[in-house]
Amino acid sequence: MVTVHDSKKVDSQRARRDLIELGRLGRRNGELVEHFDDLSLVKGLHRIEGSKEIKESREYLFNLMKEAGLRIRTDRTGNIFARKEGLSDDKAVMCGSHLDSVLNGGMFDGVLGVISALEAIRRMNDEGFQNRRPIEIVVFIGEEGSAFRKVLLGSSVFIGESTWEEAYKLRDDKGVTLEEVLIEHGLLGASQFSVDDIDYFIELHVEQGPVLNKEKIPLGIVESVTGLTWIRAVVKGEENHAGTTPMHMRVDPLVASSEVVSFTNRKATEMAAINGTTVATVGKLVVHPGSPNIVPGEVELGIDIRDTDAERKKKITNEIVSVIKHLEEKFNVETEVEFLFDHPPSKLSDDVIQTIQQAAESIGIDYKVMNSGAGHDAQNLAHKVKTGMIFVPSINGISHSPLEWTEWCHVENGIQVLTETLKLLSST
Ligand code: HGY
Ligand code: MN
Ligand code: MN
Repeated sequence: MVTVHDSKKVDSQRARRDLIELGRLGRRNGELVEHFDDLSLVKGLHRIEGSKEIKESREYLFNLMKEAGLRIRTDRTGNIFARKEGLSDDKAVMCGSHLDSVLNGGMFDGVLGVISALEAIRRMNDEGFQNRRPIEIVVFIGEEGSAFRKVLLGSSVFIGESTWEEAYKLRDDKGVTLEEVLIEHGLLGASQFSVDDIDYFIELHVEQGPVLNKEKIPLGIVESVTGLTWIRAVVKGEENHAGTTPMHMRVDPLVASSEVVSFTNRKATEMAAINGTTVATVGKLVVHPGSPNIVPGEVELGIDIRDTDAERKKKITNEIVSVIKHLEEKFNVETEVEFLFDHPPSKLSDDVIQTIQQAAESIGIDYKVMNSGAGHDAQNLAHKVKTGMIFVPSINGISHSPLEWTEWCHVENGIQVLTETLKLLSST
């Protein structure tokens, strides 16, 4: 049974307005998109860390958080916390996601998790609900890795997997360090709030895949999140004139790199046919200097490898690296391989899964327990505290694209289940 409750106490328009407003910030010409039919491939969201648009989104959000009476702080990495105090000083229930987007992305990825957390608190405020544990909204910095080439950047520091000193040194494509960005954006805070101060983490997110949409199920409860590895490879050849260099005298790194592109796709396809969860993508290919009349001198590849099984991910990763290394012998090129990061698969908490189930059942919303093929800050948090994720359907399963969309009724379902889950967890 699928229901969308419209209790008089619930202001469904409020979260919708905030999502639409935030969706303007980063879209070319600040166009307003309210419906699936308004979407177009040229209206993607470009809101990466360090940009004016992400600064504006944070300012918009800070105002909303203040209106809701929350206490806002930032830590040394630029993660934002906004606290609703509880009746006790016990460890908090944390809830949230990210505001940064991929290049040319959609307006729900990450933002939905932040706005729904805020909306849950606004509804509790409206009802006079008293939470026993404090509830802490979080906005993790740099989840997408679009600017600083490390996905899950803020949450990795928050759980202590990397340090803020390491994060500060990261540079974006313009050579600007994260520290410089944090100073310029007024984000360099001193909050010592850490994973040791929370007992639970919960994140509402769009599914970003086709399962719920195809099966017409309004809600997903995530059981495990895929492991995720990024490799940067550089293949160096000999830059030369495309007209005068005879074919047999070329050292062409693009021709060599094309073997990596096809091997990556072929191997992942073969493995997926057996186990269903392996995916691997060469999503970035930068050809230097990039002109039809020049045999390229250098190619940079960005490779993304995922599996819910750590051993399988390791196997395909090793095979891709050995194909890259073998190019040296076969094409006479030079190669470099850099592991940008390696996040293991995460199993989420059975306790939180049961609590989300209880919440969905109490509202009368049907659900499916499923895996996530997308990476999320929740997978980092799951290594340290009891963590859960709620998914709502993505139309046609599309995400990391301007055509990403989730129906407003599904947004409302997600917020209701999140609110109820937060009430239950904060009462423990
Ligand atoms: O790439 C991912 O899966 C995530 O959205 N950063
Ligand atoms: Mn994403
Ligand atoms: Mn996301």
